[in-house]
Amino acid sequence: MMIPLTDSQHNTTISPLTIFSAEQLAHLSPAVAQVATHLNLYLNESTIANRVQALAQQLNETYEGVDELTIICVLKGSFMFLSDLVKHLKVPVKVEFIRLASYGNNTQSSGKVKTVDLTLPSLEGKHVLILEDIIDTGLTLSFLVSYLKDLHQTASLKLAVFLDKPTARKPEAQHITVDFVAFSIENTFVVGYGLDFSGHFRQLPYVATYTGPPLSDTH
Ligand code: XMP
Ligand code: MG
Repeated sequence: MMIPLTDSQHNTTISPLTIFSAEQLAHLSPAVAQVATHLNLYLNESTIANRVQALAQQLNETYEGVDELTIICVLKGSFMFLSDLVKHLKVPVKVEFIRLASYGNNTQSSGKVKTVDLTLPSLEGKHVLILEDIIDTGLTLSFLVSYLKDLHQTASLKLAVFLDKPTARKPEAQHITVDFVAFSIENTFVVGYGLDFSGHFRQLPYVATYTGPPLSDTH
């Protein structure tokens, strides 16, 4: 299900004052202020809630009868997706957190993965589901899947992502299969629902797209 940018809800401009006061806006870095002043609503709260619930239903069917599912939540961006999704899961779940980061703050995925914290218990014989906020070039998930497969003999290893940008995939990551996708979106930079620009905007309960001119790397 590809979500086109032309849906009526996508044309709603978001006032930066819904996020920052005028005074706070004046103190932001120019790049963050530029993003704050060029945001359009992309996926609203009810669209997200309905879709996340449907995805949970799909997971309930896939993992029916399984003793335990280990969810690996990839921080920071996936925290909101995780908390909304697990509320609807019927299979017994354990949650582990790892933290990966891409270098740079720009709206283009750098493709270089920085591992901040990869601490995990043994996943020997476990059913494992990786939860990511977004798959873009696919290099982050490609790294993570190889890393986990090298270290752990899991009973199963599947991937669930909140957002998929299928047209952004790099050839080196074409082999990555995402098993569960909440929304397939166009190759546009998005923030909100856990996703950030330079650490900001994660708190938005909806997904917004950046509509301004290209941002430079220097901020
Ligand atoms: P790759 O390219 O490795 O990217 O699949 C995955 C990571 O890049 C970040 N990313 C984004 N973050 N809006 C964001 O806020 C976006 O549109 C976006 N695209 C990629 C994100 O951290 C993700 O885990
Ligand atoms: Mg991420």
